[in-house]
Amino acid sequence: MTDVQMRPEAEIPATDEKAAGVSTATSRRVVLTGAGALGAGCLLAACGTDTTTAGTTGANGGDFSNDPVPAGSATAGANGGSSSGGSTLAAVADVPEGGGIIKGDYVITQPQAGTFKAFSKICTHQGCPVTKIDGDNIFCPCHNSTFSIADGSPTGGPATKALPETKVKVDGDNVVSA
Ligand code: FES
Repeated sequence: MTDVQMRPEAEIPATDEKAAGVSTATSRRVVLTGAGALGAGCLLAACGTDTTTAGTTGANGGDFSNDPVPAGSATAGANGGSSSGGSTLAAVADVPEGGGIIKGDYVITQPQAGTFKAFSKICTHQGCPVTKIDGDNIFCPCHNSTFSIADGSPTGGPATKALPETKVKVDGDNVVSA
């Protein structure tokens, strides 16, 4: 009985070898795949290292290190995507004729009586939020760019692009996105 039991045990490893052969092949694939991934990872790491070594200072430090944090950069995207909802931007009564207000992510203006406009409050120069409306101009304090309250176009300073406009309409007592 013991011998009989030994033989099956001797066969079991043979079966295991087959199984092991399959799993070895699988393991080889896994190892090869893993090696490929490692290789790619190494390449990426190498690239990352090179990029980091060469680019960190230039990419992250240069242009914005001395500038105020563009606090509205996350909301700039929201400006672009939020124009479809008809959300209230301001009360009509709060927007002065010939001027405007800065509220939330927007500059809401009334360049002429009954004509309302809304623009992103994020300056197109380097992303600072504009802070005030001075006469016919929207003012960015970072580098003194100014923009027209009528169409958001640049009227002074280093900015060369208009503030992105959001279409609006009057709905009851409110200026809402169109
Ligand atoms: S960020 Fe430079 S003028 Fe506005």
